[in-house]
Formats: sequence, C-alpha cells, structure tokens
Amino acid sequence: MEKYYCTTAIDYVNGAPHIGHAYEKILTDVINRHYSQRADLAFMLTGTDEHGIKIQKTSAANGMTPKELCDMNAQKFKDAWKALDIDYTRFIRTTDENHEKVVQKIFKKLLEKGDIYKHSYTGLYCSGCECFLSEKDLTEDGLCPDHLKKPEVVEEENYFFKLTKYKDAIIKHIKTNPDFIVPSFRANEVLNQLEDIQDISVSRAKSNVTWGIDVLDDPEQVIYVWIDALSNYITAIGYDVDSQSEEFKKLWPVDVHVIGKDILKFHSIYWIAILMALDLPLPKHIFAHGWITIDEAKMSKSLGNVVSPTSVLETFNLEYPDAFRYYMVTAAPCGKDGNYSDDDFKEKVNAHLANSMGNLLNRTLSMLVKYFDGEVKQEFKQNSPLFDKALATIKAVEHNFDYFEIQEAAQKIMELVDVTNKYVTDNAPWTLAKEEKMQECGIVLTTVLEIMCVISSLIYPYCPNIAKAMAEQLSYDINTKLDNITCNNIKVGKLIEKENIKPVFLRVDSEFADKSKK
Ligand code: ME8
Ligand code: MG
Repeated sequence: MEKYYCTTAIDYVNGAPHIGHAYEKILTDVINRHYSQRADLAFMLTGTDEHGIKIQKTSAANGMTPKELCDMNAQKFKDAWKALDIDYTRFIRTTDENHEKVVQKIFKKLLEKGDIYKHSYTGLYCSGCECFLSEKDLTEDGLCPDHLKKPEVVEEENYFFKLTKYKDAIIKHIKTNPDFIVPSFRANEVLNQLEDIQDISVSRAKSNVTWGIDVLDDPEQVIYVWIDALSNYITAIGYDVDSQSEEFKKLWPVDVHVIGKDILKFHSIYWIAILMALDLPLPKHIFAHGWITIDEAKMSKSLGNVVSPTSVLETFNLEYPDAFRYYMVTAAPCGKDGNYSDDDFKEKVNAHLANSMGNLLNRTLSMLVKYFDGEVKQEFKQNSPLFDKALATIKAVEHNFDYFEIQEAAQKIMELVDVTNKYVTDNAPWTLAKEEKMQECGIVLTTVLEIMCVISSLIYPYCPNIAKAMAEQLSYDINTKLDNITCNNIKVGKLIEKENIKPVFLRVDSEFADKSKK
C-alpha cells in the first residue's frame, strides 16, 4: 500500500473540546496508526471550523472578537489532542490564509462554470446546524430536532449551488459502490434524503453574517460556512484550483472521511457534488460513527454533563491516554452509538489491559527470570499452533480495519490474549518447572513471548505507549510492518534482567473515580 489519507471532521470552536469530539479524533488516530503499519505513507488531517454565525454570536456574547475566540479555543483542541496522543500529520484552521484564498477560488470557479447562481430566498436557518431546515425537518413545535431551538427566518438574496444537477450521478455512485458509505445501513438514509434534494444556498448576506470568507468581487456576501469547511480536505494538502501540489497528487482521493452521523448529509451529498463540479475523484469511503452519550444521557450544556476528554485522564490519574483511547474506540460497534461511564471505564480497562494483557506479559517474563535467569535457549524455539492463530489474527484485524470495525478488531486482539492466557493455564509452566521438565517449560514461555510481540504490534494503534513498553521488554521492533510480522522475533540469549520487568499498565484505582464523583 503506497499511501493512506484519512481525515476527521473539523470542530466548531465556539466551545472547548468534549468527549464526543475526542471519540472521533481517537478513532481516526487509531485508523491512521493502523495504516501506518501497512502503508508507506499514512497521513491524518484534523483541524477546526472557525467561521459562521454561531462563532460570531458566541464571541460577541463573550466580549471578544471572533478571531480572539477562535485562537483561544483552537489552542484548547490542539492541547487536548496532544494529551490524547493524537498523532495527526496536519492541523488546518479555516482562518488560515491559504485556505481562505483557495476557497474563494473554488467558489469563483463554480460561478464561472454556471454551477452557482444568484437567487432571492426565504428560509429557516438553524445556527446550531449552520444550515437551512425545511418545515418537515422541524419538530411539532417548530424546533430544530437536534438543537431544540426555533430556527430564524432569513430572507436574503444569496448565491445558490446547483445541487440538483448532480443528484442522479450521486445516487448512481452510492448504488454502485456499496462500501462508499460505512456502515452500509446509512446509505439508505442518504438515498432517501436525495429524493427531494433542492439547490442549496452557498452564501449569506453580510448584513446578517460578517464572520466568513468574502465572495470574490461581491463584498456584500460571505461564503456559506459548510462550503468553506468541507473544502478543508483539499486545501490542507495543496489543492489550488488550477494548480496542485505534489502532495495533493499523491494523497487525493482521500481514503476515508471519518465523521459523525449527524453530518453525513453534508459529506455524502453536498461535498460529493462539489467534488464532481470540480472534476475531482471522489473519496473512497465516508465512515459515519455513532454518538457518544454520558451515563446513557445525551451530552448537553443545559444538562451540565459535558465531559472534557482531559478531565478523564485527571480523574483517574492516568500517566498515558492509552486506557481512555482503548475504552473510547471499543465503546461501540462500527457506526453505532456508545456510552461513557466512569465505572464501566474502570472495569473494562482493568480487565482487558491490566489483568488479561499486561499481566500475561508480566508473569511470563517473571517466570523466564525465575527459571532461566531471563535467558531464551535455542531449544525453546519451537513451532506452535498458536503461531497460526496469531498470524490469522493479523489478517482478521486488517480485514476489520478495512471495514472500519475498530471495536471488532480489538475483540479479535483480546481473543488472542485470552487464548494465550488459556495456553499458559493449560500448560502450567510452573508445574513443568517443579517437575524439572525445563525444556518444555522454556518452550511454553518462549511461545507466549512470541505471541506477545504480535499482540504489541496489534494493540499499538489503540495503546501506543503500552505497546512500546511491551515491545521494549521483548526487544521487539514496534515499527515492524504488519506484512513482515513472523512468530520468530525473540532472540536466543539473555532477554531481560529482573529489574527491567515493569507492569505495562497499572490497574486504574477506584479511589480516583470515587473522589471525582463527590
Ligand atoms: O459539525 N459523540 O462540528 P462539531 C460523537 N464543524 N461525536 C460527536 C459528538 C458526540 N456526542 N458531538 C459531536 C461540525 N460529535 C462541523 C464539521 S466537517 C467539514 C465540519 C462529532 O464541532 C460530530 O459528529 O459540531 C462531528 O463529526 C464532530 O464531532 C465535530 O462536530
Ligand atoms: Mg455539531
């Protein structure tokens, strides 16, 4: 595989990042790290969406300029991603000068092409969604169903994009590419929405919205925030309308846009139409993840249950974000909703990462030291049916990732951990040692250590720090590409000294979570 290019949604900066934003960035980082184990180049883009009426209003309410608010909050997103070890390749802000310039050129090109035209319009605008809603989208009380607020009646002369021109081509693309929209059950939703699609307004009058990118040659209009935002996926890598960077030529089309289910329409209809209008190849996949709730409740400012991702690290006094990353991306099967709760977090990461995986390595290395002074002998290196299971797990995990089944892939890894634990129990190396069957004992321990190398590679995308700590104690190269993994990694000779055996993950202490609840 030559390259893998993945993106996240870019977050609105009218507030600080919450656990839902974090969920998506961790998911994408896990995907990107997995493909870094398969591709020559893995590239992850994330960033912030900084224009629009919502940010204009929030900044005014806080006595700040929009740019001041954006600078302050964009930094909070960057800090959070750093704390969570989100290893993005590039961070784009839609207020970046280059982005603004290229968006203006994109708009101009579509205007010249006749795909954008001017039109007077009355509509219902929800600033939460940053979009016009139709009457039938609203609740019985006339509210936006997502934000439970009454949309504003807007009467303006705007530019419109000829979405209807691309309707049939989009329908055809979705129908002939069953893995374009992931999970596939969401494709039907999109096809239904396409049924009664209209041309869309792609600008707002400056009299109503000032915080946006100006339409070139028409200073009374600013470009609609979604056109501005969606374009980030190409402007960030050097698309420039009539000339393109080498990087763009290498990376585009994108392998996957990772987004939340609430913004699927914008990505699988609006964005696809824009790309078609620009004569650009289409994304290979759009992966719509589910929604994260807190203790089974929707997160909202009014409920006061918004959880900041870094507060979880603080609550549990976590040195590394690995456990939180693991918990989040295994919270839901592909595309389904998931839940965060402190108790469940504690229980799951202690069971999987400490008791099953970490402990397996720790006690195997301890036995190697106890019985063999930390040394692996040539005669311990024997083939084992467990090796076939380990290599088959790599293939199964790759297959899961190709379908964005991140939780499912983690289950396969934990199955391998469980089978290996059972192998230890069944073969009882401590009994073999007592009976002085030393070669048999050595074979069992070495077999387990070989499997632990594979496990460290497989768990790496989820838990990079734990994986590195495991690999270090195994003298295993954590940068081994998945294709090159064998079950012949453990070198004959002294593997480890007693004082270098360290638990790779300490059990999360209940004391911390209890304190946070008081
Ligand atoms: O929609 N659980 O920004 P945003 C899971 N700027 N995901 C959640 C979530 C939750 N509770 N809450 C939000 C925007 N998200 C636009 C995107 S892309 C060109 C422009 C996800 O800050 C949400 O689904 O409202 C979206 O994918 C991302 O966080 C940013 O949401
Ligand atoms: Mg939103």
